[in-house]
Amino acid sequence: MNATPRSVVIEGTGSYTPDTIKTNSNLAEIVNTSDEWIFTRTGIKERRIAAENESASDMGAAAAWRALEAAKLDASDIDLVIVATITPDMPFPSTACLVQTKLGITDAVCMDIEAACSGFVYIMEVAASMIRSGRYRHALIIGTEKLSSILDWEDRTTCVLFGDGAGAAIIGPSDTPDIGLLDFKLGSDGAQGDVLYMPGGGSANPATLDSINDRLHFLKMRGREVFKLAVKVMEQAAQEILEQNGLEPDQLSCLIPHQANLRIIELLSSRLNVPMERFYLNLEKYGNTSAASIPIALDEAIRSGRTAPGDYTLLVAFGAGLTWGAALLKTP
Ligand code: ACO
Repeated sequence: MNATPRSVVIEGTGSYTPDTIKTNSNLAEIVNTSDEWIFTRTGIKERRIAAENESASDMGAAAAWRALEAAKLDASDIDLVIVATITPDMPFPSTACLVQTKLGITDAVCMDIEAACSGFVYIMEVAASMIRSGRYRHALIIGTEKLSSILDWEDRTTCVLFGDGAGAAIIGPSDTPDIGLLDFKLGSDGAQGDVLYMPGGGSANPATLDSINDRLHFLKMRGREVFKLAVKVMEQAAQEILEQNGLEPDQLSCLIPHQANLRIIELLSSRLNVPMERFYLNLEKYGNTSAASIPIALDEAIRSGRTAPGDYTLLVAFGAGLTWGAALLKTP
């Protein structure tokens, strides 16, 4: 066992999005919608769609290679792999174990954690706690989703919102106090589980010819209810984590929200009284990539210089469950 570290920091990030772009106009060819409707209601212009033979673990491994390169680490340095996804390659083995093999990691603990779009913030806290224990040194955390595989391409109320991709970060210990991953505030409310779910494929509704005919293997959502809950829980998580750390919203240099809907983010901006310019946004290009949304945005924000030393960054997410979470970061 190593000594317990004083801080846990991001050592490198990476992301991967498939080459194939589906624009709003492309979607208007398959369902009754329009670029104007989708863009004005969501802020989304296009999304990436994985190839037929490209799985969540393939995309996760591609993002992980980039994170390893950024961290200047070898795959053999990783001793913990945690994946957040609602679209695992298969129910088991875990996507984390599949990524482990693709990267050639031989000596690591690997597991998946499912918290839908909040998944990356959840695994960040779990991995950070494990590193703080002194038992692990370099954790690879990945949010990866092939949402195109669970979308009902005949349902215009859902299929226009989502896309595929993966983001990864490697986190590890530091002896400098009070930097890196400073704090977390996670929450869940299972009573709201039926606003966003996929009924088929698990033990309650295993795959049968009927379950397929009844379209149970597709994501279902009551969009308007999700919208209201999202604004409420993201504001609450953000306010609570700031209060916990004696910070005011205007001390945040960068906010990286779950990229679900521009209107949700605009409401969050006005409720926190933080200008939109401080929010990192990429949903126009990728749509909602669930657990991959925050790590892709985090990677882009870091690579484009949005986080200078000493800056506070807030990650804030909500997702099916209902789940939500915030993470407060201070750039070393
Ligand atoms: N194109 C055209 N018309 C549409 C479309 C579409 N793609 N989808 C719905 N409509 C129609 C509806 O049928 C409805 O028509 P009606 O008035 O004739 O009944 C009308 O547009 C308005 O529908 P609403 O659902 O009220 O539209 P709203 O303004 O609420 O926008 C939206 C819908 C975009 C889904 C919004 O509610 C939303 O973003 N909700 C949050 C969704 C979200 O963030 N989900 C991600 C959760 S994260 C996770 O864990 C995966």
